Order: sequence, then C-alpha cells, then structure tokens
Amino acid sequence: MKPVVLVTRRLTDAVHERVSRDYDAILNPEDRVFTRDELIEACQSVDAVLPCHSEIFSAEVIARLPARLKVIANHSVGVDHVDLAAAKARGIVVTNTPDVLSDATAEIAILCMLGAARRGSEGDRMVREGRWTFWSPAFMVGRQVSGKRFGVVGMGRVGQVTAERARGFGMEIHYHNRRRLEPALEKGAIFHETLESLLGAADVVSLHCPSTSDTTGMMNDAAFARMKPGAILVNTARGALVDEEALVRALTSGRLFAAGLDVFRTEPGGNPALAALDNVFLLPHIGSATTETRDAMGFRALDNIDAVFAGREPGDRVA
Ligand code: DGY
Repeated sequence: MKPVVLVTRRLTDAVHERVSRDYDAILNPEDRVFTRDELIEACQSVDAVLPCHSEIFSAEVIARLPARLKVIANHSVGVDHVDLAAAKARGIVVTNTPDVLSDATAEIAILCMLGAARRGSEGDRMVREGRWTFWSPAFMVGRQVSGKRFGVVGMGRVGQVTAERARGFGMEIHYHNRRRLEPALEKGAIFHETLESLLGAADVVSLHCPSTSDTTGMMNDAAFARMKPGAILVNTARGALVDEEALVRALTSGRLFAAGLDVFRTEPGGNPALAALDNVFLLPHIGSATTETRDAMGFRALDNIDAVFAGREPGDRVA
C-alpha cells in the first residue's frame, strides 16, 4: 500500500501528477483554506502532509496529529508556521524547500526596491485612475538606486542572489549576518557585525532573514531611527520582522523615503495603515509565485517525502 499524502493547497499540475503517481494523494484542487480543526481532522488518516505557510502547525495542532504521520514536508523555505520543537519532540520530521525559490524571490525584492524608489504604485494608480493630467521635470521625482549602497539583512541563499542582482545596478553590497561569509560567497560585500552598523550605512535595507523569536519586530522605532534619512526598506521575508506601526511612523515623518513590501503581519489582507500611504509599494506575498518555482518547490517537498519513506535522511530536514 502506498503512503497517504495530504497536499493542503492547490499546487501545479506537474506536482499533482507526481504525487498522485507515487502516493495515495489527497489533493485540494478547489484550494479551500482549512480551519485549524479541519487541518487536524484532515491529517488523521495520512502518513505525510505537504503544507504551505498558510497552514499553522502550532504545538497544539502538533499534539493532535496522529502517530502515523511521519513528515511535515513544507512547500516553503520559511518554517515559522511550524513549531519545530513540538514536532521534534513527537518525532515528526519537518522539511522545507530552500534554494529553489531564491531567484524568484530575489526578482520580487528588486521589484519592491525599484517600485519604492521610483514611486511605482503612486504612478501606476495615477495613470490607471485617469489622474495623470500634468507633466513636468519636477513631477514624480524618485530616488536613483544605481551606485548606492544595498544592505542585506540575512545573507543566506535569497540574500546572496538578491545582492547579485543589486550588483547589476552598480550598487555596493553591505550585509549583516550571524556569521561572516567566506570571501568566495561574500564577493567583496562589506560585512557589518551588528544590524545597527548596517542600518546606518545602507541606502536600501532588504530583509532576508527568517522570522524567529530573535528577529520578530527587529525593525522597530529604534531601528528606523538608525537608518539613513531618506533610506528605503524592502521586506520579502516575513511580516513579523517589522513593527508595522513604527514603519508607518517612519514613512509619514519622512525618515524613510519609501518601503517595498511583499509580506505583512496579517496575511492575507496586509495593513490598511500602510496601504493608505503613497510611499509604499505593496505586493501580496508572491515572492516565489512563478510557474517554474512552484514546480520546483513542489518537487523538492516530494523529494523530501520520498526520502522519508525510503528510509533515507531528507535533504532539507529542519526538525
Ligand atoms: C516561503 O517559501 O517561505 C515563501 O514565503 C512562500 O511560502
């Protein structure tokens, strides 16, 4: 008998085909969002679950999973929606999908940077709404990023690819990371031992670190006060990294020129106070949303499930 695998959200056709070929697959083609109790219920008769960051596996949920469930193979690189300690304590393997979404997410980070620096959403709305009635050289003047300093917070895989794209604009790369990278990976980027030091140096600060108890709310009033006046914040990592009320203050006071955000504390939905501001460029958490990357994420999650049922160590185990 094939193991039963629950795929909680609608994935690509190619991923549905593979999981249906190799497993007794339970799919969700209508893409219905499970409530917490529905998620627990749906997991009762399965050997593996392949969830997205939209399914929260809190300690309470994990406590109610059946003994037969061997692996939570996430379709995401971020795993802040899973209580890893609780899963580990119950002997449930947890995996993620690193690497395969770095290019797509870096593209969105650059889009957020440019959208913020060049007033992308303000201009788009003006043309769309028929309010473009005037032009002058003094009109819609933004910030040029070419030749400026690009500051990466969290120089992991996504941070490194984003830095590489920013180099294409002639930007000087600065970064803060728990550990300094080897010179071959650093590629001349300037390491800052502290976040504070990086914030004081960068014209654009781009967040690429995971959301943990250490990083939650790290971009707060004090952090914005340390940023260069007129700097730009980009967040394609997790909304929890930013104190959004403090960000609204920094954007309305003019301390920051603009922000480009793909992630929010409340998802779906975002933050109405941020959405009311002209100097923000907003996207609905689509960093990894390309066909190529969605296929690759699904396949990578399935590679991890395959390993567990073949008795091998999965390549992307995080708990
Ligand atoms: C990730 O992989 O963590 C993305 O945010 C999509 O879930």
